[in-house]
Amino acid sequence: MPLHTLPPGPKGTFLAGCIREFSRDRLAFLHNVARDYGDLACFRFGPRRVFLASHPDLIEQVLVTDAKHYIKHFGARAYMPVLGNGLVTSEGEFWLRQRRLSQPAFLKNRVLTYAPVMAELARDMLTRWQPGESVDVYYHFSDLTSAIALKTLFGQDNPGDRKEFLNQLHHAFALLSDRFRNLVKFPFWIPTPRNVRTKRAVAYLHKVVDGFIAAGRARSEPGDDLLSRLVAARDEDGTRMTEVQLRDEAMTLYLAGHETSALTLTWSWYLLANNLEAEQKLADEWSRVLGGRSPSPEDLSNLPYTDAVIAESMRLYPPAYLIGREATTELELGGYRIRRGDTIFMSQWSSHRDPRYFGPDPEAFRPERWLDGLAKRLPKYAYFPFGGGPRVCIGTAFALMEATILLATIGQRYRFTVDPGAIIGTNPQITLLPSHGMPATLKAR
Ligand code: HEM
Repeated sequence: MPLHTLPPGPKGTFLAGCIREFSRDRLAFLHNVARDYGDLACFRFGPRRVFLASHPDLIEQVLVTDAKHYIKHFGARAYMPVLGNGLVTSEGEFWLRQRRLSQPAFLKNRVLTYAPVMAELARDMLTRWQPGESVDVYYHFSDLTSAIALKTLFGQDNPGDRKEFLNQLHHAFALLSDRFRNLVKFPFWIPTPRNVRTKRAVAYLHKVVDGFIAAGRARSEPGDDLLSRLVAARDEDGTRMTEVQLRDEAMTLYLAGHETSALTLTWSWYLLANNLEAEQKLADEWSRVLGGRSPSPEDLSNLPYTDAVIAESMRLYPPAYLIGREATTELELGGYRIRRGDTIFMSQWSSHRDPRYFGPDPEAFRPERWLDGLAKRLPKYAYFPFGGGPRVCIGTAFALMEATILLATIGQRYRFTVDPGAIIGTNPQITLLPSHGMPATLKAR
């Protein structure tokens, strides 16, 4: 069958293509392109050709069937100054070796052993909260999931100055997003004010992660945590990872391992604060199954409504709202020709709102939709909060268990009401952040 040349899509402007529309409101852009142009749309970012794949079969073809002909896209590479060449951004043999090295820490049985630490650190956070207090729950959840990642993956108790770390992290990501928007990009070695600020923020983040590695090395007994495994790992020829490789891996696992989880909790509580009926059903499930306890591994299969709330929250506010791949050779997709170097976007934000799979009211928060076997009926890539194929999220089991344990441990003690007057919006950076945190008042249950 002859291949068509290009699917339909928005034209944008002559030089920039759709960069400005995307930068102005990227969630609306992705949603509108999928709605207006269908399963496969094409547009330009400057000279770069970008396709948005919105049909589950096309997404499966890119992530799974043709995975070996794609690498991560320019958007993922844009964050390399922070993430380095770690598991999220690396490719080929090097990526495979690092993935195999990290995998044991994420196998189901190993992940189950982290449950008590997750519950204990959540209860610890609760001792610092007071009923009636107004807090930024996003900041607190990020603090908590950071402590959990450090303890479970790196065997460490001291998170350092979290507030400053989070500030510098968001600052660095915002600067890198800005850089993406500009058609003219000065190389990092040119000391433009923006480059200097980016480098300063990244240097701070590196220093913190170097500190984690040094603390791991300084322990008298090497632990069996992930960081110790990475430190001890040797190649077939006996060489160890360089300091920079080790830091890249540690930075990636630390960031990927806590920011996304904090966002799942933040958006879940936001949705629950606006859906009192769902919140009451959750509380009923917890009092029936847990009676005030934190969930143990044995409880995890007995909390279907909690699972449904988490699934529905990641449907509407997917922490990873956009993933992408770049073709390394000429390929076919949906009857169209993909050239080497073309980018394919796949957006959880827009796909998870597709009325074909989540209609008739895809915007509605309705955890019940997951209770009658929807997950089994859906085409596999209609819902893909953790991606898929060989690059699927390594932390899927970790993240789902953590969300359940934290939601139930915190939710049995407190309800949240979003502060009146608080501006709640989305700030899509590398993940889907709330634009101004999530200020909420704690109500004792
Ligand atoms: C709700 C929480 C989470 C979400 C929504 C999420 C989402 C994702 C997605 C969509 C990808 C694939 C990206 C792509 O295909 O380009 C990914 C990859 C990854 N995630 Fe997660 N993630 C979560 C939690 C975690 C946790 C807890 C960890 C580690 C403790 C983690 C570590 C990673 C790593 C290392 C990769 C790269 C895997 C590879 O390419 O081999 N994630 N994640």
